[in-house]
Amino acid sequence: MKALILSGGHGTRLRPITHSQQKQLIPIANKPVLFYAMEDVIEAGAEEVGVIVGPNKDQIVETVRSRDWDAKVEFIFQGEPAGLAHTILVAEDFLGEDEFVMYLGDNVIKGGITRHSSIFRDLGPDSLVLLTEVNEPQRFGVADLDEEGRVKRLVEKPQIPPSNYALVGIYFFKPLIIEACKSIEPSWRGELEITDAIQWLIDNGHRVEASIVDGWWKDTGKSEDILEANRLILDEIEPKNEGEVKGSRIFGRAVIGEGCIIESSTIKGPCILGDGCRIRESYIGPYTAINRNCDIEGTEIEDSVVMEECSISNAGRITESLIGKNVKIRESGRRPAGHRLIVGDNSEILL
Ligand code: TTP
Repeated sequence: MKALILSGGHGTRLRPITHSQQKQLIPIANKPVLFYAMEDVIEAGAEEVGVIVGPNKDQIVETVRSRDWDAKVEFIFQGEPAGLAHTILVAEDFLGEDEFVMYLGDNVIKGGITRHSSIFRDLGPDSLVLLTEVNEPQRFGVADLDEEGRVKRLVEKPQIPPSNYALVGIYFFKPLIIEACKSIEPSWRGELEITDAIQWLIDNGHRVEASIVDGWWKDTGKSEDILEANRLILDEIEPKNEGEVKGSRIFGRAVIGEGCIIESSTIKGPCILGDGCRIRESYIGPYTAINRNCDIEGTEIEDSVVMEECSISNAGRITESLIGKNVKIRESGRRPAGHRLIVGDNSEILL
C-alpha cells in the first residue's frame, strides 16, 4: 500500500500563524501535526509515502527530512490548492496502479489507522471512508448509509443531515479513484472535491464502504482545534524528566526536555517542555506544550501551545493561547501603563 499525505493548502483559518508557517507544521504536544499522519500510515504498512506540498513547500520538505522514516518518502508539488481530488491527479504518477490511503496532513486520530487498513484489505471495496459521529453534522461532509453500512450518498454541509456520520479526512482507495477525479468538474468554490469523486464511484456502480472511528478525531484547521488536539494528546503523555529542577514543584505527568532548567516554579501536568527551555518563577499548568528553547519568567501559562524560541516575561496569566515561533511578550514597566502591541495582520488578542 502507498500513502498520500496532504500538506498543501493556504490554511487561511489559521492566519496569522500560516502567513509564515505551513499549518501542518504547527506542533501538537511539541510534534508537527503532519508527523502524526506520517506515523499512522507507516504503522499501517505504507512503504511509499507521497507528501503533497504547496505554499511553503521547502519548510515541509526540510521538516520531514529532519527525521528518519521507515518508508520511502517523496514530495509532490501541487501548484495551486485546487482541491483534495486535484491532489490525486497531481500524484497520478506516484500512485500508479496501487491501492493507497489518503490522509489530510492536519488531521489527528486516536489509535492510528491500522484497524481501518485491515478492514479495507478484508472487504476489498473501491473506497473505504472513515466516519465519526458528530453533534452538528450540518458543519461537515456527511455520509448517508444503507442497511448494510455501505455509503450510498455523500453530502457537504447538509441542512437536513441524512445521518450524524461525518467524513474524517482519511480515505482508502483503489486506483479507480484516479478515473473518478478525472471525470468530475470543479465545485462552486472552484475545487475538485473528493466527495464528488467518491460520489462518482457510487453513481457508477462501485462499492464504497465505511469504517467508524471509535476514539477521538481532530481536524486542526482552526486555533481552538489545535488546542483541543493538544489536550487530547497530552492526556496520554508519559512523564519524563531530562532537565534540571531547582526549588520547584512538579505535579502530574510532565515531560521536561533535555537541557531544561526549571527554577522556583510550579509545573502541573499533563504538559510538555521541549529541550533547552528556561522556566523561572513561573507556573506551567495542565495542557500546555512549550517548544524548545523558550524562556519563561514571572508568568503563568496553561492550556496553551507555545512554539519554539519564545521569550515571555512578567506577562501575567496566559491561557488558551496559541503563540507562534520567536514571539516576545514582556511587561514594559513604563508609564503611562497600557498594552503596547506590535502585532501582524489577522492576529487575535483577547485582553
Ligand atoms: P482544508 O483545511 O480544507 O483547506 P486549507 O488548508 O486551504 O485551509 P483553509 O480552509 O483554512 O484555507 O484542507 C484540508 C487538508 O488538505 C489540509 O491539510 C491542506 C490540504 N490540502 C492540499 O494539500 N491541497 C488542496 O488543494 C487543499 C484544498 C487542501
